[in-house]
Amino acid sequence: MTKNKILVTGAAGYIGGTFTYEVLKKGFKVHGIDNFINANRNNIDAFSKDFPESFIFSEIDLAKDVSKLKLVLDEFNPDFIVHFAGLKSVGESEEQPDLYMNNNVGSTRNLLENMNPKSFFIFSSSATVYGNNPNQPLTELSEIKATSVYGSSKIECENLIKDYAFNKGIKSVCLRYFNPVGSHQDLIVVEDYLNKPNNLMPKLIETAMNGNNTINVYGRDYDTKDGTGERDYIHIIDLVEGHISAMDKVQKIKNIDFFNLGTGKSTSVIELISMFNKTNELNIKINFVDRRKGDVAICYSNPYKANNEMNWKANLSLERMCKDSWEAVQK
Ligand code: WQD
Repeated sequence: MTKNKILVTGAAGYIGGTFTYEVLKKGFKVHGIDNFINANRNNIDAFSKDFPESFIFSEIDLAKDVSKLKLVLDEFNPDFIVHFAGLKSVGESEEQPDLYMNNNVGSTRNLLENMNPKSFFIFSSSATVYGNNPNQPLTELSEIKATSVYGSSKIECENLIKDYAFNKGIKSVCLRYFNPVGSHQDLIVVEDYLNKPNNLMPKLIETAMNGNNTINVYGRDYDTKDGTGERDYIHIIDLVEGHISAMDKVQKIKNIDFFNLGTGKSTSVIELISMFNKTNELNIKINFVDRRKGDVAICYSNPYKANNEMNWKANLSLERMCKDSWEAVQK
């Protein structure tokens, strides 16, 4: 019996939506869940229209509506649960620590507590769990040390998943994302650059779209190639492919495993802005301002483990990331 039913939490969001679209195109059956705290209904409406036979949706707050969640789990009985839903702003997590811990950890606990232990669990984790580590690039064995409430919430989730993997036999894979950017070439799912973007790429788009044409760069005095922050930007399509590889890998492990999803390349803020300008024939100017609280100097991956043990490798270039991000909002 082929395993083709996926429960996707956060299905209305940028990453969850792109994943949902990709697996629906591949013929999987998806039950999407979202509470729209961080997304609108556009993606859900598009999936319901384009895939009426294989997409169903429930509006559920995973941290609160346990009885609704139980109903969905009992009726749909998913082969896989891919858990994207979560609040993800580092800055906001510092202002509202309880909201972040209760929402991010509570939703993960409710899923693990109520799911069929025979289902496989794929978790959207983050490189933020490594905190501010001078030893770069980061491997899955690098020290785990949160430098934000958001990072702490992801570490707590990973520890919870580990408990359930060992005690309830829920086979799980935690995927630690570096910096996802770009849009699906079919341009169905676009990162919401209107929704007070904090991240660099949506901020660049907002800057170009509202014509003020100058972006604030937070700090030019880091110990990096040009003084600005270095990150491992990864195309959302490569990231989604990583989840599809993980759905295969998770069936072959004993209990739990962790993988970095990154390109293994580091790009500075100045480098990304000039690539964005060159690729899209724009002329966004830079205004250097003070460092942003909580930022680390450098964060990029050693993707060796995922490349060799999960048969996955990021292929798409920084130029493609810049092109797709910009084209998606032009459409
Ligand atoms: C990248 C670089 C900024 C905006 C965050 C989360 C992380 C993950 C990805 C969830 C940094 C600089 C940014 C701007 C700037 N999210 N920058 N001007 O902080 O690496 O990671 O998003 O998993 O958990 O922490 O991403 O895009 O915000 O910043 O100079 O207007 O761009 O200082 O060097 P970050 P980012």
